[in-house]
Amino acid sequence: MKVAIVGAGSGYMPGIVRGLLHRADDLAGTELACYDIDAVHLDVMTRLARNMFAARGAAFTVSSHTALKAALDGASYVFTTFRPGGLAARHLDESIPLKHGVVGQETAGPGGFLMALRSVPVLLDIAEKADAGAWIVNYTNPTNVVTDAVARHTGARIIGLCDQFIGDTEMWAELLGLPSDGLEADWIGLNHATWAQRLRLDGRELDVPLLLDDLEVPGGGATPWRDPSRMAELAKTLGFLPNSYSKYYFFHDEVVAELRAKGTTRAQDILAMLPGYYEQVAAESRKADPDPSRERGGGEHGEFAVDVICALHRDEGRRMIVNTRNNGAIASLDADAIVEVPALVGRSGPVPLTMGPLPGPVRGLTQAIHAYERLASDAAVTGDRRTALQALMAHPFVRSKHTAERILDEGLAAHQDHLPQF
Ligand code: G6P
Ligand code: MN
Repeated sequence: MKVAIVGAGSGYMPGIVRGLLHRADDLAGTELACYDIDAVHLDVMTRLARNMFAARGAAFTVSSHTALKAALDGASYVFTTFRPGGLAARHLDESIPLKHGVVGQETAGPGGFLMALRSVPVLLDIAEKADAGAWIVNYTNPTNVVTDAVARHTGARIIGLCDQFIGDTEMWAELLGLPSDGLEADWIGLNHATWAQRLRLDGRELDVPLLLDDLEVPGGGATPWRDPSRMAELAKTLGFLPNSYSKYYFFHDEVVAELRAKGTTRAQDILAMLPGYYEQVAAESRKADPDPSRERGGGEHGEFAVDVICALHRDEGRRMIVNTRNNGAIASLDADAIVEVPALVGRSGPVPLTMGPLPGPVRGLTQAIHAYERLASDAAVTGDRRTALQALMAHPFVRSKHTAERILDEGLAAHQDHLPQF
């Protein structure tokens, strides 16, 4: 079996290698075709992978490619994890909307819209070049828009990933004073806009409204990914658990003020740590038993992706939360919407489980996000400016047509080297 990794020079690669080691027995004999446009980072990561596999006696072979077609040829799984334009482009995604009083946000916001315009053409090219029947297992953001574009505009098979729910469920375990082992939440909705009304501990249903009534809102503790204080405050009003990204919808104006006061974008913060990070990883990659930094991706990110590939390949029928075609799983969204939902993942792909309607207090919001995502996907595929403007006007963060126009014009100009469709 062959797995292509597109974006193998990514800082997330050490976590992917750890994920592969975790399932080394189940994937024994697999060829990993590593591809990246950055030959230097690709070299570091392939050496790291080879040495980590050798140290643990894992039976993987690793090939290294800067030509896409050779990496894709014969691959049954194409794992995609890249960012066109890199973090410099992310800085623009985050800062252009903020100039106009809108949270940029690299996935959920208008920043994510600009990223979709860059990501989608690359994914469409991969879908066209990949072997017929190959599965694209996609982490490239915004994963829902990218997955929608590939699913509706190509014949390729794609499954969209996000590991946010794993860390979010752990945060809720801590907030609610529950063990995180054995805690399972039914997160449903759209990527980075999911909600959980049902929570189980070791298979036993918990009384979520009762737990939330007793919850005390903690102070502080926010990280770039999670804000327990705001999440607790929201959940007590909503009566169910919100995804951490809901902060940008329900605290939008406060976040604008905070980002302005902070002065640097998240992209700039990461750019500042990356040279040291790659240096550490490069030094480890030369050791006989490398132990690379966990600063990017942590543990679950890579393991989750590899578990999804195993579930597909070994026909495990495992229950996993993934982004796939709705097919009626969520009653409040179109049948062909790409939704994030618990699904049974086996050889023929994810089979989403019936989850009923979205909770009333966020139903309209989630449907509005879906309308935006569909327009964003169409704009990213066609390069039609009018559709692009409609997408930004439909985005819940953007409250004025002229603001939408400014973000679009500046975004298209700033990213023109990565927008062949415009
Ligand atoms: C979470 C989200 C990802 C996102 C990442 C950004 O993991 O689920 O979709 O890309 O955070 O993290 P970063 O460290 O790059 O800001
Ligand atoms: Mn995500």
